[in-house]
Amino acid sequence: MRKLIITALLLLSPGILLAAGAGPHLEKADIDLHDQGSLQRGAKYFVNYCMGCHSLQYMRYNRLAKDLDIDEVTLRETLLFGEAKPGDLMENAMRPEDALAWFGVAVPDLTLVTRWRSPDWVYTYLKSFYVDPTRPYGVNNVVFPAVGMPHGLSDLQGIQEPVMGHDAAGAPVVTGVRLVKQGRLSPQEYDAMVRDITAFLTYAGEPIQLERQRLGLYVLLFLGFLFIIAYLMKKEFWKDVH
Ligand code: HEC
Repeated sequence: MRKLIITALLLLSPGILLAAGAGPHLEKADIDLHDQGSLQRGAKYFVNYCMGCHSLQYMRYNRLAKDLDIDEVTLRETLLFGEAKPGDLMENAMRPEDALAWFGVAVPDLTLVTRWRSPDWVYTYLKSFYVDPTRPYGVNNVVFPAVGMPHGLSDLQGIQEPVMGHDAAGAPVVTGVRLVKQGRLSPQEYDAMVRDITAFLTYAGEPIQLERQRLGLYVLLFLGFLFIIAYLMKKEFWKDVH
């Protein structure tokens, strides 16, 4: 019995730990992986605004083009820059030692970021930069305190100030942000943009997911069909017994 209780507690502990470590509130990313337009836009934004620093080292351009239904001409015009060829991995030219000198940290590869964080976390992160003159790049982030990344989308989003609150012990903490000067996009347009980027990164973390769902549907349809045949056969076989 004791063993049973311990096993049950062990199984439950990740949930308990997660509940206990409730950090800042995460907004729902509300992405739709079946919306190809959203994924295509996300890929374009990523290549233009993020790939200067971040790579997607497990993703090839031509795989992405095939999955997201992007033809070769569009691929070359909108996603391939410099020397990059369709068969290449989506790596960038930044040397790790330069990254360390510029940002004080290694720039993480983002192929799996929505899996080690979550799509909601990435979405909230991209919306949570605020002005902080004490930081090297003048910005900080609510969900990633003392972040080493400059806010690359600030001219689109605008300038945000921190909203202060108190933690459980009564110490002041940043609990949210407030837009004080709008950038080139309206808040709705900015939300849509970071939703597209989050959707694209979620796809990149598990490209097979879309295919699996499609296959799953066929399997279910097949099983449904089999059920009907089996049922009719059963009726036929037992007809004379009853
Ligand atoms: C100028 C370089 C630069 C650009 C451009 C940039 N980033 Fe970053 N990013 C960084 C650095 C450096 C870090 C690591 C921060 C740290 O560890 O303190 C980071 C961290 C992150 C993280 C957190 C990863 C983790 O540790 O879980 C995410 C998510 C992210 N970036 C997404 C993006 C997206 C999306 C874009 C494009 C809109 C982008 N970044 C553009 C430099 C950059």
